[in-house]
Amino acid sequence: MARPSVTSRLQGIERLRRQVLAHPRAQGISPDEVRDFLSRLPPRRFPRTAYAERGPIPYTQPRGGFPTFEAQRNLTQALSQSGADFIPLTIDSYTRHNQYETATQLLRRSEEEGRDYLNGYPLVSHGHELTRELYSGLDKPVSLRHGTPDARLLAEVAIASGIVEIEGGGICYCLPYSEGFPIDRALLYWQYVDRVCAEHSTAAAPIHRESFGPLSATLVPPAIAIAIEIIEALLAAEQGVVSFAVSFGQTGSFVQDIATAQVLRRLSRRYLDECGFDNVRLYLVYHQWMGAFPQQRPKAAALISGAAIIAGLVDADKVVVKTVDEALGVPRPEVNAEAVDTVQYVMRIFRGADTITSPVVQREAELIGAEVDSILAAIFELSGGAFWESVFRAFQLGYLDVPFAPHADNANKLISMRDGNGSIRILNPGNVPLSDRSAAMERSLLESRVDRADKTYRQLLADINLMVQP
Ligand code: 5AD
Repeated sequence: MARPSVTSRLQGIERLRRQVLAHPRAQGISPDEVRDFLSRLPPRRFPRTAYAERGPIPYTQPRGGFPTFEAQRNLTQALSQSGADFIPLTIDSYTRHNQYETATQLLRRSEEEGRDYLNGYPLVSHGHELTRELYSGLDKPVSLRHGTPDARLLAEVAIASGIVEIEGGGICYCLPYSEGFPIDRALLYWQYVDRVCAEHSTAAAPIHRESFGPLSATLVPPAIAIAIEIIEALLAAEQGVVSFAVSFGQTGSFVQDIATAQVLRRLSRRYLDECGFDNVRLYLVYHQWMGAFPQQRPKAAALISGAAIIAGLVDADKVVVKTVDEALGVPRPEVNAEAVDTVQYVMRIFRGADTITSPVVQREAELIGAEVDSILAAIFELSGGAFWESVFRAFQLGYLDVPFAPHADNANKLISMRDGNGSIRILNPGNVPLSDRSAAMERSLLESRVDRADKTYRQLLADINLMVQP
């Protein structure tokens, strides 16, 4: 049995860092120079300072990355002027998969031909010295958005560039983003990232970590997402991270969104405290719909506005926004800036955090909470020298099972679908250790929906395409 504990802190980090920083693309990053640079950043560049000043509505964060420095600078300025509270740096797919040479070649082609050959900013190719210039004069946090199972070098370059919010984790950036990256390696590489974040943190200015709760964004039961969020918070805390955001994606069910926010907030705090990590500041991030988006812009705008109301109702600390071009491709800076403005407008006029409780929400929160507790209890019971090993075992055993994750080592035994009210239900838990009571409750809530087995496949497609209607 291996509970989360500081005794699992990665040892010999200096030696490991020397290896990573010896990479030619690290461009001579020196941890001492970076520490000095960070100490001179405006306090408002750190999420903790920003979050402490949050007003009555959630902070707004768009996504965005272009290959060239000029395009990224334009985007940064457009988003900052639009009122975005967090500035994104979305990384291209080659860099996410550590293919730095290909990313560099395609960056050069983009520069030469004036066309984008990358779907994001190749941070490792640009390097930290140039990237620092993207943000000179900026007094908002910059957030690294990627999807990288081995983000060791990427995170080093990001922090050296003054990007002090690092999204990801060994689970959330592996299972949904990779077909074959070994899960145990991803967990260990993210221990490195967490450890480096902790090393560069000071009491007043901690490097902030955020987990990615939407996962595959396709019919993921809230209990699975919450359990994984709590696990990633615990893994980060073990390495000394003291500022952390858990997140979840809009489920498509109003009731489930409200209940998920309640349970995620309550249980992540409780598990951190119980494991001795009461020094960790926790924040809640809400992702607007991450599944298939409508192609028609008015419908996309309606979906974004609806999600903005929910973000306010659950009193998220931050909402990650979509754009009306989501179904069509990478949004232009103006379109992205418009989305920020729309979402802030809706949140301002529909203020009213935490006003919704009802017996239905309460029943949902109780069910989800009980499921999360039994999944985590079963994982804590697993033998292993350290908590991360139990987490790895949990995937091998199918205790953690993420629907529609492309990863070869995901169990894929859990089957979920929507009930008559649009909530995500567990039709078959596979090996996920739910109590008999919870499993029976899930099935009974589905009864109105599953009438004939031969309809299941068509229902599933309709469930996945919930937001895509003619
Ligand atoms: N610019 C803007 N948004 C992006 N996304 C991914 N890459 C970019 C980019 N370069 C957004 C899309 C996608 C989500 C994961 O991130 O909305 O669905």
